[in-house]
Amino acid sequence: MNRGLFITFEGPDGAGKSTQIENLRNYLDDLGLDSVFTREPGGTDLSENIRDILLDPANKGMTSRAEALLYAASRAELVEKVIQPALDQNKIVVCDRYIDSSLAYQGYGRELGALKVFGINQFATQDLMPALTIMLMLDPEKGRARLDQDNLDRLESEDLEFHKKVLQGFAYVAEEYAYRMKVVDAGMSREEIWDEIKPAVDWKLKKRGFI
Ligand code: TYD
Repeated sequence: MNRGLFITFEGPDGAGKSTQIENLRNYLDDLGLDSVFTREPGGTDLSENIRDILLDPANKGMTSRAEALLYAASRAELVEKVIQPALDQNKIVVCDRYIDSSLAYQGYGRELGALKVFGINQFATQDLMPALTIMLMLDPEKGRARLDQDNLDRLESEDLEFHKKVLQGFAYVAEEYAYRMKVVDAGMSREEIWDEIKPAVDWKLKKRGFI
């Protein structure tokens, strides 16, 4: 019955998404399932260019609305050129960040409002939402301590107050979209985190008839 499966990873900076995404990649490979791994902002030539603009600390003065629209523009490209075509071919698509990051960072962090940001993203994504979101939750102090302090990008260099608002945003998203969320405490060990993610993935894979 499967028409693809769209999984996203979300959470504050430094929550350890990359390690868990790598675990999932190995797991899907071991199962012999056809998957596409991508990231936001990025994943197409144009979206990677937009990523450079967004993360460049030289663009510190960018307005919040321009920022939200650039993330949405990058997402529009990625959905139409990469994610939707892969789902149409029945593949499993795993994306490192998606719409929930915009709701948290731009909606809450920049105080544009989650509903406004959701609106522009409905347009950008043609209403494509993930079937499963792995939300790695970690308080901002701990997340920031894990980052390389000499190489912070434009968003990472925002102050603690900003990152606290972002975390509130992720908490809102986790509650509002509880039906597609697997919230995991990112303060646990890598092994413990994966032990929580795997059953959530298995459940969806079974439901869609992949395993
Ligand atoms: P990235 O390298 O993906 O950060 P990480 O490795 O922590 O996932 O950089 C993306 C940055 O952009 C990150 O700080 C979160 C931010 N972001 C938004 O503000 N809005 C968005 O919609 C997305 C996708 C990311």
